[in-house]
Amino acid sequence: MIRFTLNGQPAEIAPDAMLLATLRENIGATGTKAGCEIGRCGACTVLCDGAPMNACLLMGWQIEGSEITTIEGIGTLAAGAVLIRAMEIENGFQCGYCAPGVMMSLTGLLSRDPAPSDAGLEEALEGNICRCTGYHSILRGARLARK
Ligand code: FES
Repeated sequence: MIRFTLNGQPAEIAPDAMLLATLRENIGATGTKAGCEIGRCGACTVLCDGAPMNACLLMGWQIEGSEITTIEGIGTLAAGAVLIRAMEIENGFQCGYCAPGVMMSLTGLLSRDPAPSDAGLEEALEGNICRCTGYHSILRGARLARK
């Protein structure tokens, strides 16, 4: 088994297992959503050592020793906690299915750049598909969260 850290806790995954499936089916961390499962929709976005990545494209052998953060652990990150509050204020999401992935992508950006430009925010969301809001409310929340 491959050892990694999940939201600050030790975790294991089979080397040939998909991280997304392991999170949802073995660990019970169902906040990370399954959409396309081919790296196109961003619903499954997690942070791997601080970088947003698609959990449907990560296999166990690729994350040995890595720190994986999912939506369940986002509140422990300073940028994530601010973003949660900002999205609440701006009603950032409608159906919410894309929300975990969007939150992880934006937290990854805001953790390394607390004051991104509007273009930077939009670029960070290029891999996240939302079919409800047209991104306006998501971007309002993201702008409120930046410094
Ligand atoms: Fe991973 Fe769509 S489920 S990108």
